[in-house]
Amino acid sequence: MKVGFFDAHKFDKNVFEQVNKNYSFEFVYFDTTLDSRSSVLASGLDAVCCFVNDHLDRETLKILSETNVRIVALRCAGFNNIDLDAAKEFGIKIVRVPKYSPFAVAEHATALILCLNRKIHKAYNRVRDHNFSLDGLVGHDINGKTVGILGAGQIGSVFAKIMNGLGCEILVYDKYVNDELVSKYSCKYVKLDELFSKSDIISLHLPLNKDTVHVIDKDAIARMKNNVMLINTGRGGLVDSGALLWALKNEKIGHAGLDVYEEEEEVFFKDVSDYTLKDDCLARLLTFPNVIITSHQAFLTCEALENIAKTTMKSLDQFQKGESLNNEVTKSN
Ligand code: NAI
Repeated sequence: MKVGFFDAHKFDKNVFEQVNKNYSFEFVYFDTTLDSRSSVLASGLDAVCCFVNDHLDRETLKILSETNVRIVALRCAGFNNIDLDAAKEFGIKIVRVPKYSPFAVAEHATALILCLNRKIHKAYNRVRDHNFSLDGLVGHDINGKTVGILGAGQIGSVFAKIMNGLGCEILVYDKYVNDELVSKYSCKYVKLDELFSKSDIISLHLPLNKDTVHVIDKDAIARMKNNVMLINTGRGGLVDSGALLWALKNEKIGHAGLDVYEEEEEVFFKDVSDYTLKDDCLARLLTFPNVIITSHQAFLTCEALENIAKTTMKSLDQFQKGESLNNEVTKSN
């Protein structure tokens, strides 16, 4: 079975080649992301393996089906970039990695909080310049602060446990109640209004879909505490970037830690340091000393990469053998 990797990086190749020692798939790697223009590269492939910024819209899926690709293996959990109706219509199976390391993402969200709060990014640069002064580096105790979590699924619940360990009050907004979070980790399930009005730190762990897009908009921000810290390791589209920019300029949001960004596919995972940044919103966000942006790296741990590779190869193997697919994406996921 011949598998084409789109948006492939060195870290993907290393781990997939390693895990492939237990299988015998033939791999082809493409640097480019998959969209309707690049989908011709799939000619001769049986499967494509994609990531978060590949565009699996109707047109792309149609071309893939015409080139006889029968399965798309997402090496990620989120599937907001796929037209599932079109995939079904063209007879293309979609599999994903629903769980690879909730710890990786939850720990990255925590790293953003701690770094922003104690201004580690500023201190790091300062001492390298032999400036050992402390002015402007005052933070707060995280202990005792109220943390609002939107989406307490696999990642959000690990994050809640970490925040509980730091001594925080935890408010959760989710469609479903996780009893363990309530009984063991003192989480309180609340409506969005209460979460917005009481939280010192708000962390987003929802999937991106039609109900959650721009859950953080100007209206939501207006209901938040002044100086709130916003952390987004979910998906860029959860936050209206224009509203975020407005709130930072007007000092309504005190800190923002972003691992994802609405228009990230233009630049994330790429070295564009030789070019002019065309995205004015991103360029402005990067000027704030109280904003940290990472390039969708929350998942990037050795453990997560190994789990991604193992689960993806198992799905491809199941498909090849005609077995039922444990991690098939359907509209009910
Ligand atoms: P999950 O499916 O385990 O949890 C999502 C939670 O959100 C569930 O508890 C669900 O009930 C809740 N939810 C969904 N829609 C809702 C709505 N409309 N209102 C209220 N609650 C709702 O997903 P998991 O594994 O925790 O991942 C969450 C998201 O994190 C993924 O969808 C993905 O977009 C993002 N992610 C980001 C990564 C990164 O590297 N930055 C890596 C992995 C995931």
